[in-house]
Amino acid sequence: MSESEFPAGQRGAFDADARRSPTLPSRYYHDPEIHRRELRAVFHRSWCYVGPASRLAEPGDYRVEKIADQCILLVRDEDSRIRAFFNVCQHRGHELLSGSGNRKKRIVCPYHAWTYGLDGRLLQAPHTDRVHRFDAADFALKPVRLANCAGLLFANLDDNADDFEQEYPGLEQILRDCLPGLEGFSTVFECDYDIAANWKIVVDNFSEGYHIPVAHRKLSQVLDSGAGNRASVERRYAFFESRSKQGYEGFEVEPGLPYRSWTLWPNTCMLSLPGCANLIVIRMAENGPDRCAEHVDLLADSDGMTGVLEAIRDLFTEQFNAEDIALVESVHRGLKSLGYDQGRYVVDESESWYSESGLHRFHRQLLQALEDS
Ligand code: FES
Ligand SMILES: [Fe+2]
Repeated sequence: MSESEFPAGQRGAFDADARRSPTLPSRYYHDPEIHRRELRAVFHRSWCYVGPASRLAEPGDYRVEKIADQCILLVRDEDSRIRAFFNVCQHRGHELLSGSGNRKKRIVCPYHAWTYGLDGRLLQAPHTDRVHRFDAADFALKPVRLANCAGLLFANLDDNADDFEQEYPGLEQILRDCLPGLEGFSTVFECDYDIAANWKIVVDNFSEGYHIPVAHRKLSQVLDSGAGNRASVERRYAFFESRSKQGYEGFEVEPGLPYRSWTLWPNTCMLSLPGCANLIVIRMAENGPDRCAEHVDLLADSDGMTGVLEAIRDLFTEQFNAEDIALVESVHRGLKSLGYDQGRYVVDESESWYSESGLHRFHRQLLQALEDS
């Protein structure tokens, strides 16, 4: 897409240069037609986080996940390989499984008992020996591409998409360097939020630190946003590291420890707070133009909760995320106001913690995806 083709709003066209650009016109956050296009252009074609591999520890363990309007089934097969399929029976389209659990060797459709192996092959289909030229090989489950990045699983519904490693070069190494043994981290806490805001507003909010000193008083006591920053910005993800301050009563930490965050196209954000080996993975799933289904996994190098992990969980759920949800729901209402259409990106050249350049990058990719679809 050339710059002249970027969509215009009241304050002009979105510009490929963040320093000159007005923000995304507000209709992008509530127009149902744009939302429908996003399903195809973004969610049906991008690598989306679907959980840690450690949740599927044993052969037969499965978990059903959603990528936008599509339901997929993750299962560890008898050879201990994790596979992904569309969660739909190839007979008449009944959904196969829900939730999570273990299926020993077989997945049986509850409608007419077509039976699949954990590798997706159709093993049994009652009475089909009487069906003209019926070949079970034609009715295997439809596979979905899966990537395992240091123990984090990402699925892509598009057979033609570039490989995960091409799209997110170096991400696996950064994760391994920052969090040794991440593949073995267990899920010590998970939760879901139903947020009254377009999914992009929630991603926008995670893309910038400009609001942190204003809106997150407790987090600001832990985080030294000016010290020891390092950043790595790639096309599909960005990584930032800053340092901890002393903390506060109930969450005292050593000063100078790393505080890390990652934003991944299109809808995943990850945080690693000081205090212990942990990773908070946040997925902002679309749920129509006006709602976001946010899922949070707290992964840690621990079999269960510890005092530090409880402090991290509480800082995230009771402070940080609660404050963010109030912000994004207000922005969602505000973006429908007749008194607003576009603002400006507050950016600096150094990609500092405060710069909104990550926000601009996200919008640029979104517009590119919509154009390419
Ligand atoms: S729809 Fe699954 S067996 Fe008929
Ligand atoms: Fe925030």
